[in-house]
Amino acid sequence: MRTAIVSAMHEELASVLALLPDEHKVTVAGRDFYDGHLHGREVVAVLSRIGKVAAATTATLLIERFRVDRIVFTGVAGGLAPAVQRGDVVVADAFLQHDLDASPIFPRWEVPLYGTDRFATDAALTGELAAAVARALPGTRVHRGLVVSGDRFVATSAESRLLQQALPDALAVEMEGAAIAQVCRDFGVPFAAVRTVSDRAGDAAAGDFVSFIREVASRHSAAIVQALLAR
Ligand code: ADE
Repeated sequence: MRTAIVSAMHEELASVLALLPDEHKVTVAGRDFYDGHLHGREVVAVLSRIGKVAAATTATLLIERFRVDRIVFTGVAGGLAPAVQRGDVVVADAFLQHDLDASPIFPRWEVPLYGTDRFATDAALTGELAAAVARALPGTRVHRGLVVSGDRFVATSAESRLLQQALPDALAVEMEGAAIAQVCRDFGVPFAAVRTVSDRAGDAAAGDFVSFIREVASRHSAAIVQALLAR
């Protein structure tokens, strides 16, 4: 069983790499993949890169070149639903691309030829990940539900409000998850994702994001990955 651990930020990847005693680097398509072990289990750790196209390419390489059996994403997101506050954790049950719109040919958000606008994460792996979050970060508020992805850093209250109105069940927004979920669906590879809320996707988002990445995100990623693979 080979597990891919994917992050979007260098700080998060570095904290995961610090847990691997024996990794070696393989560079493909400009991406550094770190092949190694954690608690005796095979892992491949890599940066997704940022945005949906980059993340889809990384996921495809993980599956086709590195033969991973499952993909786990750890990262940060902007909170959308009012209850989802900075420092909370969101475990994704499904992903949607909020910036995909082929209407009127297809319904808004529907991914053409898939007949759906949402890709569910793997229920069993998502359950394991949620349990790992509870062990790794006791006392942290954890939400489960829809996470939306798009090629935009949402950094104004106006845009955040529009997203909440359009997609009221969206808990959080980020830039990669829906792409990886779609690739995993194509290949039949289980996918799960956890996102710590770094900002509220409003006017303070950029500053909040930068300080959160520096202070919290890497600790969270390492603790969650450690707890997931310790079993
Ligand atoms: N990742 C973290 N915060 C985000 C935001 N506000 N918009 C998009 N992706 C994010």
